[in-house]
Amino acid sequence: MRIIETADEMRAWAYARRAEGNWIGFVPTMGALHEGHASLMRASVEQNDVSVLSIFVNPTQFAPHEDYNRYPRTFEADCELAERIGIDAVYAPRVERMYPPNYATYVEVRRLTEGLCGRSRPTHFRCVTTVVTKLFHAVCPHRAYFGQKDAQQAAVIRRMTRDLDFGIEIVVLPIVREPDGLAMSSRNVYLSAEERARALCLSRGLLEAQRLLESGERRVDAIVDAVRNAMSGVQIDYIELVDADEMQPVSEIRGRVLLAVAAYVGQTRLIDNIMFDAESGIVT
Ligand code: PAJ
Repeated sequence: MRIIETADEMRAWAYARRAEGNWIGFVPTMGALHEGHASLMRASVEQNDVSVLSIFVNPTQFAPHEDYNRYPRTFEADCELAERIGIDAVYAPRVERMYPPNYATYVEVRRLTEGLCGRSRPTHFRCVTTVVTKLFHAVCPHRAYFGQKDAQQAAVIRRMTRDLDFGIEIVVLPIVREPDGLAMSSRNVYLSAEERARALCLSRGLLEAQRLLESGERRVDAIVDAVRNAMSGVQIDYIELVDADEMQPVSEIRGRVLLAVAAYVGQTRLIDNIMFDAESGIVT
C-alpha cells in the first residue's frame, strides 16, 4: 500500500492507474477509523479495481471553538486497517500544502447548507465542499464513498458533484452502529461512561420515530415531539424533518424525508438520522 503526501504525486499515481484501464474508488476521511469507515472502504475495494483512502483532518471545517486540536489522530492503526481491507493508496496531505499562504478559493453549495448543521456551523460546509473538491482533484476517482451518518454532507457533496460536472459517482452507504444502537463516530472516544450511556437517547429517539412512522403516523409534530421526549437528557441542537434532496423543512411527510438530530452530550456534539420513504413506508 502506497502512502502519498502531495497532490502531484497522488494525481500521477491516479493517471497511471486510469491509463491501465482501472476504475478508482475513493473514501475521504479524517482518520481515527472505525467500522463506519471500514464499511466504505470494503465497498470501494469490492466495486472498483483500485481504491484510495484519504486521511486529512481538515482544519478549516472546524470553527475556532471546536475540537480540531484534540480530534483523535491514529494514523498508523488507520493505515494497518486500510491495508488489511485492501486499499491500494493512502493520500495524507499536509495542512501547509493544502492551504498555502494567501489561500483564497472556496466552493459553496447554497440552500442545502443553510439548515440543520449549517445553522450552528455556518462556515462548515463550504470548507467541506472545498476540501472534498481538492481531494477529488488529486485522487481523480470514478466513484467516491460517503456515509449516511453525515446525511446533509452526503446530499451537499452529491449536489456539488452534479452541479459542477465532476463526473464522479457518489455512493452513500448506511450508518454503522454499535450493538446498542449508538451511531459510530470518531468523536465517541470523547464520551465518559456516563455520557456514553446518555448518548444512546439519540438512536433511541430515532427508533421510536421509526416505530411511529411504520405504524402510519404522518404528523410532523408528533414525530418530532416523540424524539424530543426521548432526548430530554441531552442538550438538543436540532430535531428536524427535511426533504431528502433539498434539506428543507417539511410540513407534511411525503416522498423521501430525512429525520435528523444533533445534540451536545457534555462538550461532545453528536449527530444521527434516519431516512423515511413515504411511498414504500421503508425506514433506512
Ligand atoms: P469523517 O468524519 O472521518 O467521515 C468520513 C466518512 O465516513 C464520511 O462519509 C462519514 O459519513 C462516514 N462515516 C462516519 N461515521 C459513519 C458511520 N457510523 N457509518 C457509516 N459511515 C460513517 O466526514 C468527514 O470525515 C469529512 O467531513 C470529510 C468528508 C473527510 C471532509 O473533510
